[in-house]
Amino acid sequence: QDEHFKKVIAHAKEYGYIFQSSEIYDGLSAVYDYGQNGAELKKNIREYWWKAMVQMHENIVGIDAAIFMHPTTWKASGHVDAFNDPLIDNKDSKKRYRADVLVEDYVAKIEAKIEKEVEKAAKRFGEAFNKEQFLETNTKVLEYQDKATSILKRLGKSLEEENLMDVKALIEELEIADPDTGSKNWTDVKQFNLMFGTKLGATAETAMDLYLRPETAQGIFVNFLNVQKTGRMKIPFGIAQTGKAFRNEIVARQFIFRMREFEQMEMQFFIKPGTQKEWYEHWKETRLKWHLSLGMGENNYRFHDHEKLAHYADAACDIEFKFPFGFKELEGIHSRTDFDLGNHEKFSGKKLQYFDPEENKSYIPYVLETSIGLDRMFLATFSNSLTEEILEDGSTRTVLRLPAVLAPTKAAVLPLIKKDGLPEIARSIIDELKWDFNVTYDEKDAVGRRYRRQDAAGTPFCITVDHQTKEDNKVTIRHRDTMVQKRVNITDLREIILQEVDM
Ligand code: GAP
Repeated sequence: QDEHFKKVIAHAKEYGYIFQSSEIYDGLSAVYDYGQNGAELKKNIREYWWKAMVQMHENIVGIDAAIFMHPTTWKASGHVDAFNDPLIDNKDSKKRYRADVLVEDYVAKIEAKIEKEVEKAAKRFGEAFNKEQFLETNTKVLEYQDKATSILKRLGKSLEEENLMDVKALIEELEIADPDTGSKNWTDVKQFNLMFGTKLGATAETAMDLYLRPETAQGIFVNFLNVQKTGRMKIPFGIAQTGKAFRNEIVARQFIFRMREFEQMEMQFFIKPGTQKEWYEHWKETRLKWHLSLGMGENNYRFHDHEKLAHYADAACDIEFKFPFGFKELEGIHSRTDFDLGNHEKFSGKKLQYFDPEENKSYIPYVLETSIGLDRMFLATFSNSLTEEILEDGSTRTVLRLPAVLAPTKAAVLPLIKKDGLPEIARSIIDELKWDFNVTYDEKDAVGRRYRRQDAAGTPFCITVDHQTKEDNKVTIRHRDTMVQKRVNITDLREIILQEVDM
């Protein structure tokens, strides 16, 4: 698994997907740049989300709020007081860790043990193996499961401001060691606020302390009435947004999984108080369907209900994805009640109520939120797509099996050789196709090598122009995943490709 993750990181760089930020200055930790292919993949994921959430829903509209917001926003939202991570230092290594992550990693190890037991049993029982039944009845597995659940429960309770000593006790009891040095000599646990501060204004006297937004959601809450009134929206309705968010994360590892500057895709759905349970279920199901529509494997997703709730939520769960380092949060679905709008009303002194014409009364709506990290979705897609295959002739083929709708380049056009008018035909095909999707030209090396290059870059189709093309206006189209080649009319290319890549 570690090996695969290393390959993912190296491949992302080699094929122009992700570079370390300011690499020539040795980089900046947990900050990354997207290269020529990465920017396209990211854009396509964003558009796939936007289309599903905004375009396909009559009652959801999208906005683009500023990153800077009035500082009182973050008092009202609770981020000034409660947006903290519990930190613990190792006295010997002088390294700083997130205490909850240390415990969660320990639980992940227990889960890995369960998976091993399952694998062993599957081998032993062969066809007769029933995973569900095994998980429910095997005593060893049940023991592991109980242990993991009870640790997470205790951790959830301990993370309250006043109980931080319990986290330390938990870390000592489980004999959790510094992952780098093995030392178990820990300090007490302290709370650390994750927001980045900055200043607005030129002079020291007039400058205003601001924060870079740690979530996009608040830009939606403060605009709730603007959008509702100008869009004449009727409850239930949603407001969606994508954009940058910033958090001074302490655990800065796992590549783009946890970044200090990242992008969120969020939707706040405003509902009648009392209907939150139904809508919570509705959005859980709808969001999981969105993920499954990309065809990245049903078994790679699972729900995880939160034991410990964020300061704003009355129910919350994650859609977890099987990353190269195990199942981890990809998206959050939160029932936020009237926490945010209620607090903004208090702090701003402005009414943030909706007049319900059916009920003939005004109230502060409840909110259901779906929130997914764009970069995290990128990592899920990219890491899941990178595969190595052994071909019939014994050679290996590296294929980036990105869902075709998300692939940065949809087709590469390859003249078999660099002369006899073939490059000109290839260029004219590109000139036709580029109006509808990204197409690239490649004439260097033998055609087999060019196929491999496009496979590794994730391009779903290769189109080869040969001498016969001059006679019959036909080309060979090769499919990345199946490697099946077909001879088709040039005039049919657009339709054939759009059938697979159109969102
Ligand atoms: N408005 C609710 C909210 O922000 P969250 O669970 O803190 O909830 C939502 O974040 C999603 O944003 C996460 O599920 C994750 O995909 C993404 N995310 C959060 N912190 C991140 C980070 N440091 N780097 C990358 N993605 C992050």
